[in-house]
Amino acid sequence: MSRARAAIILAAGQGTRMKSDLPKVLHQVGGRAMLDWAIAAVRGAGVSRIVVVVSKSAPALSAHVERVLGAGAIAVQDPPLGTGHAVRAAASALSDFDGDVVVLYGDGPLIQSSRVEELFAACATSAGMTVLGFNAADPTGYGRLVVSADGALERIVEEKEASPAERQLKLCNSGVICADAKTLFRLLALVGNNNAKGEYYLTDVPALGRSSGVSTSVVMGEESETLGVNSRAELAQAEAVFQARARKAAMDAGVTMIDPKSVFFSYDTEIAADVVIEPNVFFAAGVKIGKGARIKTSCRLEHAEVGPGAQLGPFAQLRPGAKLAANSRIGNFVEVKNATIGEAAKANHLAYIGDADVGARANIGAGAITCNYDGFEKHRTNIGANVFIGSDTALVAPVTVGDGAYTASGTVITKDVPAGALAVGRARQENIEGWADKNRARRQKKKDESA
Ligand code: UD1
Ligand code: MG
Repeated sequence: MSRARAAIILAAGQGTRMKSDLPKVLHQVGGRAMLDWAIAAVRGAGVSRIVVVVSKSAPALSAHVERVLGAGAIAVQDPPLGTGHAVRAAASALSDFDGDVVVLYGDGPLIQSSRVEELFAACATSAGMTVLGFNAADPTGYGRLVVSADGALERIVEEKEASPAERQLKLCNSGVICADAKTLFRLLALVGNNNAKGEYYLTDVPALGRSSGVSTSVVMGEESETLGVNSRAELAQAEAVFQARARKAAMDAGVTMIDPKSVFFSYDTEIAADVVIEPNVFFAAGVKIGKGARIKTSCRLEHAEVGPGAQLGPFAQLRPGAKLAANSRIGNFVEVKNATIGEAAKANHLAYIGDADVGARANIGAGAITCNYDGFEKHRTNIGANVFIGSDTALVAPVTVGDGAYTASGTVITKDVPAGALAVGRARQENIEGWADKNRARRQKKKDESA
């Protein structure tokens, strides 16, 4: 039987360099809070018990953890006295836990489930302790991993305590460690703070383990996945890594992008095969695109669905609740919000479709808008199948246009339109023959006289 798995996510740092009212780990990468990335990574590796270590001074963070994981997942570290001290703060929340626990940082959004899985596997095989290491291009500031000839981890030395020879080591500590929980907490109780920073270092644990017969090993990772975010610049770096991964995954899954680096994804964007995405497109959270659809240049989508074979853009916006059925078309300068667009229906130019249901094959003319808001409440507009909405129609909701009906251009629709009818609501046009020529002559004469 495989061993139970838990995780401790450290998030008690102050994050002062972010210069933000928002707790650091709630800043987003790919539309998801960094903390939630860490949570997803451990869940993906079969972790069922998660404890997040927070500081006393971050009520917004505690509220977030409570919402996502429940109040039992919060451990408060007060005051913060180092990474070892932080892990110890999670001990009581895991006092009944028997199995392996992984420790990672809430400000490291790039670690993936597959790597966490590797750490658990290594830890379970050797029944010991495993640290995620990486070769740093510039190791300055990181703890270094001192490894023996047989590959075992002898100890971790922090930069401040490292000898000149140890500082030459490129093999660095990512901060992620996996160990049998009872062993980890037993060893943490032995960690002191007699070091350069006066802190309780989590990194003292492997050496203490080794001297009491615990086997210790290193799993190698990429430097990019260990990036910790401390500033807005590092947040942008993490975002760039995420976007690069998302673009590659989309292309591997059969999506064409003419200029991948100008297309931006969220953590949950779902794009089917044979979709073509033109340059400068932004997928905010909650977007699904069906097979063979085309997203033309300069569109923004959020919590929206585009059906198979549908076409969107250029310059269109899908706001939350927009659902385009198969083969429908939403063209330039059209905004759709909380509305369904039926199969093969079209709104090709300059329209606002909000809080509406548009039937199959309906055609929405240029400049048509739903007047969905009366200043207090939103109301729905129902447009039947095969309806033709003339250009510049204003549909004052709540209102229904029956199947196959027409609305004349420039009409303000305030009453329901029966199926098959034509609704016209505008002054009748009158033509005054010869008026323009007479007018010109009269005006010119006046101008000449006064000159
Ligand atoms: C730590 C490691 C170092 C490693 C580096 C990787 C130690 C002693 N050193 O150093 O070997 O190379 O990370 O980035 O562990 N935190 C708390 N409570 C605390 C202190 C920290 O929750 O009291 C959290 C922070 O919010 C942060 C993480 O732990 O997410 C790491 O803390 P940080 O101070 O950045 O450690 P480093 O000095 O970078
Ligand atoms: Mg750090």
